Amino acid sequence: MSHATNSEMSGFHLVGKLLEHASRPDPYPIYAEFRARGPLWIEEMSSLVVTGYHDCETLLRDPRLSAERWRFFQPDGAADPYPQDAPASVRRPWFLSLDPPDHTRLRRLVSSAFTARTVARMEDSVTRLVDECLDRAADGETFDVMSGLAYSLPVTVICRMLGVPQADERLFHRWTAQLTRLLDGFSNPGDGNEEWAGGMVDMHRYVNDLVAERRRSPRRDDLISELLAAQEGGDVLSHDELVSTIVLLLVAGHETTVNLIANGVLALLRHPGHLAALRADPGTASAVVEETLRYDPPVQLTARVAKEDMSVGKAKVPAGSLVILLLAAAHRDPEANPDPDRFDPSREQVRHLGFGFGPHFCLGSPLARLEGRVALAAFARRVRGPELVADPPPYREHINLRGVSELLVSHAGV
Ligand code: HEM
Repeated sequence: MSHATNSEMSGFHLVGKLLEHASRPDPYPIYAEFRARGPLWIEEMSSLVVTGYHDCETLLRDPRLSAERWRFFQPDGAADPYPQDAPASVRRPWFLSLDPPDHTRLRRLVSSAFTARTVARMEDSVTRLVDECLDRAADGETFDVMSGLAYSLPVTVICRMLGVPQADERLFHRWTAQLTRLLDGFSNPGDGNEEWAGGMVDMHRYVNDLVAERRRSPRRDDLISELLAAQEGGDVLSHDELVSTIVLLLVAGHETTVNLIANGVLALLRHPGHLAALRADPGTASAVVEETLRYDPPVQLTARVAKEDMSVGKAKVPAGSLVILLLAAAHRDPEANPDPDRFDPSREQVRHLGFGFGPHFCLGSPLARLEGRVALAAFARRVRGPELVADPPPYREHINLRGVSELLVSHAGV
């Protein structure tokens, strides 16, 4: 058995090492090794791994790269995972994975309804939900931040925002959990396919009915009604586009925001000075959110497909290959952020690509920032004497949507 050090490993072996469960608690030394090698072509995967901040930023705007990633993973002729009687909307790609002009058109229509104003009106409700979670935490001496706060908040918030009846919210908690592997993309490929495909079909059926119902009787203050009314130059969203977008909002905003909250709490517990600073000044919560997005981002990477032969640094990238942008490695590029391995919400400038960059920049970032800010400030304010029960806590298998499965905290009262 070989015991090669990281610096002796081939790019392909480094990827293997990254995929090992033992690497979950701290993948950052492996990212540093990737970064030391510059843009790295991995022949066995027909993929380029990019880790420099400037390179990632430039490539995320490069029109020679396509966001239609399924073309790499599901070449023409791949089996259709859905049953024949599934609603048509389920086969419609999310605009997250579309290129112009389709992406531009859909994003414009959705942005006209999902605005800063729609998000801002959620602030009171987010604050109330966070307080209810922390009230329940007061019952015991230990509190699992994951199940007790982080996991339930984002899906409840987006359901309320959309106008899903409260009695049905639990359905979405189940479906979004089943669908996470779809976004993760790199964990145990092929494993558990039926589970996510089933969750996807059930969710589409439900949302199809909900949209039909709202079309019959629109409301004043919910996002589904606003999406139904969205118009740009006489253009509107078709029924299937609307359903597909609602499912995208539910899935894209769930696990990502869950992990923002949990990764943020974990970083604060490991840096008690910064936790105390947040307790003393809740106004610094936004800075803690931005530093968490940089230091331990909920979305570690994204990918594009090369539309034509191209070169990145010294690497040649043939048309059709995958370009993996390791955002979490780019955030620790010392040229972008000095002293990058230090968690420091008080740094003068935080540069991160945690919400992506360019045409696909996260549409839900104002909502994620709001939830992160309210949850972290309330945790610091209310939980007295918090300490990690296990360090490192247990991690979920996901490579991309990085996060823990449990975050037990002992405390002296809430
Ligand atoms: C896109 C991260 C929360 C909806 C993205 C992208 C990233 C990201 C990195 C770009 C992907 C790419 O370029 O391939 C995050 C993180 C979040 C978060 C870290 C939480 C901390 C949300 C929320 C929503 C949302 C709450 C909606 C409710 C979207 C949508 C896109 C997107 C619709 C696609 C935009 C487009 O393709 O034009 N997000 N996201 N996200 N996100 Fe988020």
